[in-house]
Amino acid sequence: MSKLLVTGGAGFIGANFVRHWRAHHADDTLVVLDALTYAGNRANLDGVADVDFVHGDIRDHDLVVSLLAGRGIDTLVHFAAESHVDRSIHGPDAFIDTNVIGTHSLLKAAKKVWLDSGTGQPHRFHHVSTDEVYGSLGPHDPAFTEMTPYQPNSPYSASKAASDHLVRAYTHTYGLQTTTSNCSNNYGPHQFPEKLIPLFLINALHGRALPIYGDGMQVRDWLYVDDHCRGIELTIEKGRVGETYNIGGGAELPNMTVIDTICQSVDAAFSRDPQLAARFPDAPAARGAATASLKTYVTDRPGHDRRYAIDETKARAELGYQAAHGFETRFAETLQWYLDNEPWWRAVISGEYRNWVDTNYGTR
Ligand code: NAD
Ligand code: DAU
Repeated sequence: MSKLLVTGGAGFIGANFVRHWRAHHADDTLVVLDALTYAGNRANLDGVADVDFVHGDIRDHDLVVSLLAGRGIDTLVHFAAESHVDRSIHGPDAFIDTNVIGTHSLLKAAKKVWLDSGTGQPHRFHHVSTDEVYGSLGPHDPAFTEMTPYQPNSPYSASKAASDHLVRAYTHTYGLQTTTSNCSNNYGPHQFPEKLIPLFLINALHGRALPIYGDGMQVRDWLYVDDHCRGIELTIEKGRVGETYNIGGGAELPNMTVIDTICQSVDAAFSRDPQLAARFPDAPAARGAATASLKTYVTDRPGHDRRYAIDETKARAELGYQAAHGFETRFAETLQWYLDNEPWWRAVISGEYRNWVDTNYGTR
């Protein structure tokens, strides 16, 4: 039986991970530490049995030490971060504070409890990172491997790269037992609607513009969140200490293909279910018009990375990882989740988030 501390467990991937872990490890202890920033939502954990939620900051060293020692934690899974590239361009400081200082604070606490106390307690510090640390690929470049040099281009990816280096250093220098996974773009239930897929879905339902950065031909490798959670689980269970593993979705697609899928799927959903027109009267699909009419080209994201692609040979060989789910099927399920969970997204798009979008982009 393991005792897990999950940082950022009220965010998108963290909450999906907690659900996944509880479903597959009924007897394990699960403690979630989350500061509930704009992206954190206690409701993301509703209905998950036996989760001990602690509202706190990963930078609170004493709190983390008391959790690790007091609850006998043997596995720390670190999701907590500022995660949105656009926000990092508008305000990088929070990214340094949480992603760099925060990760370092966690590493210090883990070292103190697991190494300096001299108990020799078996432990694992798993760090969740991103493929963005590798920079941007040209159209014919080979996909990112674990040996690809780091070339982060945004304040977000630079802060994640710094955190990856700190994790590596704590293994190399002090012997902390770490693993790191670098994954591609996740999508699925509970994703905060600032990221492409949920933002465009919700804008489509409101008849708001779908803001396409630049020419819309940037390429991302789309990873269904539960596949990612399984990849992390396999890394914790089978990954070698000190190693990094790339986790991808096997669905390298230009943004425009994803956007067209969103538009066509929303149109089809309205055709199938006449009640949607009453629920979302401002959607073009409610009056039989094409959702694609909302597509709007806007100024490109500064420093926008052109292409990411994951070579997951190592994860496949060492962990037995393979993305199980095709994009079309899992996207359809994701759309249905957002249609079925309107109260969830209505709550999260109010307040601070709405203010930020309005301030930085004007009302969409
Ligand atoms: P998210 O923004 O949805 O959630 C982040 C969570 O961290 C929130 O619950 C927030 O409250 C919490 N948090 C932020 N600062 C904190 C602090 N100082 N102390 C405690 N909690 C804090 O992020 P996500 O999309 O779920 O991403 C999770 C992790 O996965 C991040 O480390 C991110 O860099 C990485 N990642 C995400 C993706 C993706 O596509 N979303 C892809 C690759 C890697
Ligand atoms: O690759 C992994 C990364 O994926 C994670 O590390 C990040 O935490 C996560 O946010 C995500 O970063 P991206 O910048 O790729 O995701 P985002 O959803 O913001 O954008 C996806 C693509 O869509 C990107 O090329 C920018 C474009 N885009 C995005 C938004 C929000 C638009 O064209 N319009 C938009 O309004």
